[in-house]
Amino acid sequence: MPAVYDLANRGLLPPGFSLVGFARREWKDEDFAKEVHDAVKEHARTPFREEVWQQLIQGMRFVQGTFDDDDAFERLRATIEELDKAQGTGGNFAFYLSVPPRSFPVVIQQLKKHGLADPPEGSWRRAVIEKPFGHDLKSAEELNKVVHEVFAPDQVFRIDHYLGKETVQNILALRFANQLFEPVWNRSYVDHVQITMAEDIGIGGRAGYYDGIGAARDVIQNHLLQLMALTAMEEPSSFDADALAAEKTKVLGAVRLPRDLGRATVFGQYAAGWQGGEKVIGYLQEEGIDPQSKTDTYAAVKLGVDNRRWAGVPFYLRTGKRLGRRVTEIAVVFQRAPHSPFDTTATEELGQNAIVIRVQPDEGVTVRFGSKVPGTSMEIRDVSMDFAYGESFTESSPEAYERLILDVLLGDSNLFPRTEEVELSWKILDPIEEYWDKHGKPAQYPAGTWGPVEADEMLRRDGRSWRRP
Ligand code: BG6
Repeated sequence: MPAVYDLANRGLLPPGFSLVGFARREWKDEDFAKEVHDAVKEHARTPFREEVWQQLIQGMRFVQGTFDDDDAFERLRATIEELDKAQGTGGNFAFYLSVPPRSFPVVIQQLKKHGLADPPEGSWRRAVIEKPFGHDLKSAEELNKVVHEVFAPDQVFRIDHYLGKETVQNILALRFANQLFEPVWNRSYVDHVQITMAEDIGIGGRAGYYDGIGAARDVIQNHLLQLMALTAMEEPSSFDADALAAEKTKVLGAVRLPRDLGRATVFGQYAAGWQGGEKVIGYLQEEGIDPQSKTDTYAAVKLGVDNRRWAGVPFYLRTGKRLGRRVTEIAVVFQRAPHSPFDTTATEELGQNAIVIRVQPDEGVTVRFGSKVPGTSMEIRDVSMDFAYGESFTESSPEAYERLILDVLLGDSNLFPRTEEVELSWKILDPIEEYWDKHGKPAQYPAGTWGPVEADEMLRRDGRSWRRP
């Protein structure tokens, strides 16, 4: 809702834009509007302007009902028809399904049954689907089948909000709008790639969703594999949805799992610890969590990409709740120089060169390389060259959902994963989840640390270590 308001505030919504809420609560239009108002006041990026708000609530309605209630869907249809006349929506509607995954099929079938999925001549109907899109390959395939019985592929927009982030779109600009990076972006120069999505928060009030799902399904299957695909893919022939999806799909299809999943993956669970100077409880003590739960709140996996560009280069992906701090980054770490003419005892602080795409929160790009320390000896030390969005641009970045919601309205599907991408991602994750199910318990790590020691060992075995962002 804050993203919708921001779009309105930036003048990016058409005057007839309308918004209908559908939920179980016994709300009137005014109650729904108040809820939206409070969310906008708290979370919108742009300043609150009464005139924008007044225009937005002209087209705001609420329909009360459950998903299996035919009368409620008839009321939804009547409301939409009334709005169409009053506001002039042109008969164009996007249905945004932010519902529990088990409810996707019933909602989609109800839209069909009540004639809401088929657009009249000259207008469009679209379905926006929030993740998780299934919980394994089989359920994702079943879901895709249900969705595609009602909506054509170009009517379906699966949201992965990471793709809406400015810094994520910049991966392609960095790689393909420049000559500097691409020549070394391959196995001849790259030692390995680390993709980190660390969060300091716990699971908050999301026990019902999170327990049984876990970190790998929650973010590796979607956000991190998408980041990996963008980092590893070949240059698309154009920046259009088909060309992009084709290249991402090729990478996901070429991902190879290590043979020994016990040595190449780690799953963990946060125990009590300290965060930001405060004592915090462990996952198993969180409200609504089964005290025997084996759900992962931390996951690290080592993947390969079987193609000429990346053969032999490991991609290490890790994510976790209650880690040291909130940071998402992609680090492309280079091989050491093949030979050093300098006295190695004087270059101890020299690491490997790296290009780090700082996705958030300190958005930018860092290039790390060795430099001579000023003085009479030839001592070399690592230094950083930084690009920071805040310093280079005066333009503000739209919030991810703003960009994605606008794209839905415009019918631009570049930033939305396709069926094949979702299914290939589950194909990568399923054997890992199965392995974890069969083998033991998640490794414990104290809240506020950088995850289980087992994850450090996993990299140490390869002669590498995790970056401390
Ligand atoms: C969501 C996950 O997709 O992404 C959450 O379900 C996670 O568990 C969130 O906290 C993180 O998003 P962001 O944009 O804050 O990195």
